[in-house]
Amino acid sequence: MCGIVGILKSNSLKNEAIDILKKLEYRGYDSAGISLFEKNRIRTIKSIGKISELEKKSKKFSDKNFTGIIGHTRWATHGIVNRNNAHPFSDENLTLVCNGIIENYLKIQNRYIDIPSHIQSDTEVSFYFLSYLLNKYKNPDEAIKTFLKTIKGNYAFVIFIKKNNSFYLLKNGSPISLSHKNKSFYVCSDSSILSNYHNKIYHLKDGDIVKINNGNIKKLNNNSKISFEDNSVSQNPYDKGKFQHYMLKEIHEQPKVLKDTQLIYGSEFFIDFKAKFENLFNVDKLVLVGCGTAYHACMIGEYYFNKFTNLDVSSELASELRYKNISNNNKTLYIFISQSGETMDTLMALKYIKKYKHRSIIITNSLQSSMVREADVTIPTYAQKEVGVASTKAFTCQILSLANLSLEVGKMNKVISHIDYKKNIKILNLLPVKLKNLIKDFTPIAKYLAKKISLVNSCYFIGRNISYPIALEGSLKLKEISYMHSEGFPGGEMKHGPIALIDKDTMTVCINPNNELYEKSLSNAQEISARNGKTIILTSAKRTKKAGTEMKVPNLPKENFIDTPFIYSIPLQLISYYFALNEGTDIDQPRNLAKSVTVE
Ligand code: F6R
Repeated sequence: MCGIVGILKSNSLKNEAIDILKKLEYRGYDSAGISLFEKNRIRTIKSIGKISELEKKSKKFSDKNFTGIIGHTRWATHGIVNRNNAHPFSDENLTLVCNGIIENYLKIQNRYIDIPSHIQSDTEVSFYFLSYLLNKYKNPDEAIKTFLKTIKGNYAFVIFIKKNNSFYLLKNGSPISLSHKNKSFYVCSDSSILSNYHNKIYHLKDGDIVKINNGNIKKLNNNSKISFEDNSVSQNPYDKGKFQHYMLKEIHEQPKVLKDTQLIYGSEFFIDFKAKFENLFNVDKLVLVGCGTAYHACMIGEYYFNKFTNLDVSSELASELRYKNISNNNKTLYIFISQSGETMDTLMALKYIKKYKHRSIIITNSLQSSMVREADVTIPTYAQKEVGVASTKAFTCQILSLANLSLEVGKMNKVISHIDYKKNIKILNLLPVKLKNLIKDFTPIAKYLAKKISLVNSCYFIGRNISYPIALEGSLKLKEISYMHSEGFPGGEMKHGPIALIDKDTMTVCINPNNELYEKSLSNAQEISARNGKTIILTSAKRTKKAGTEMKVPNLPKENFIDTPFIYSIPLQLISYYFALNEGTDIDQPRNLAKSVTVE
């Protein structure tokens, strides 16, 4: 995990590096550090916690004395959170930062006596190892090449060596991009941030060693030319506007980004779907793969494909898929879902299925990400940058992509009629207005329900069929931003064990759309009430029966199968948000988490 930055030649390099690190905090915020290059020395400043701490510590240094800077924000993997384990690691000649994990660091540590045995951090071991190589080889380029040949893992390094006044970038697996104009260079682990500085960008490839010296740039691993692509400037997603948190802003943005997404799919993306995708979907099996919230989107997609197509479809957690034997006898299409396009578990699962020659689609919000470069086909989600750690608008855009895709496949394979296809597309087109009203109307209810949840110790979410993944996502949202104990269950499973958890100090939120399972799910809620558990029933149905301790929640808008996940997920996002707000947690950057999980 972690975020890295490097800048060479700028009038304001320290302030810019700090600003970029703040934007990179979504990758982790356990500790942070910078190294500034002066004519005759390297100056390193480190701090524990968020970038604001580093900013305070570095205030006394003015930009004018420095020619370059590297910086890092850490999400701890190897070694506890302390100042020593913070990056950069530096001495009088060398400084480096790393994003990723060096898997063979213990082997390296045991082999070279110059490396202290008490060191816990894989990057610090790498630092000592490179320092040893720089002493051994006269030419720093040779030391770097040997370093790269020896280390194993997924990583991106930014390194500065004072002896030859050179900047080196190394990549394997983890993303790193470079932009430049004249003699000024910017390096970052998130290419979208670089668009604020230069509009020409190069995404390093695995195995790359890029060296920058005195404004000249070259590759040391091969003679191929570094070709910079266009990276046009986007709107500023870091402006919270009138909202207290990014999460609330992003919840409110959903009608707009879903509208944009639907417009693009309708007007250009799916035109000639058959010509573009027929071959791809001519498969025996479809597997949807993701992690966390993206996995819940996969589960929802599974229900869509199951309903609208005749494909044999399943969902898999990316972190588990890699350890399963997969067959290369049958033709399988894998659809990967990832907001960031960088989640290491998902990226590794994608690389794994490629070994078996299966085809792949990536549905992502990050068009310049590593997964886009690996997959056969990319389907964008157009949610725009999501800054809050808890995924909201990216999730609903993922579901919208899957809804459209399943309808297109169903139509192409003649499983659904043209009339049904049109009917469902119309429902999706009307969704933005429906959701705008829903957010407005449900906000006071969410505040009320959030207060009720604060009276219990645990909160459970139940649902059947397509409401089951909605329940799982509702539970994940609540626990990740408020730290409240919470679980999601399929409604029918409660009586097979989980109902033992129910007592008066529990709240169960029952996701109960007005469909053929309405009565059955209502019975599940009543079984909970009968055991003194508190319940909230979310439904669009005008209820005749009332469960014992049920909360009175006004009706949700009337739903159809295809828009159920949107109509029920957004109220759950709002409930979690207002509950966490009452709890006073760090909603946009909850403890122990990071926006983009680039370790396995
Ligand atoms: C939860 C959340 C995570 C991510 C997961 C996958 O709110 O955001 O569970 O969904 O880490 O991330 P991406 O979609 O970037 O692959």
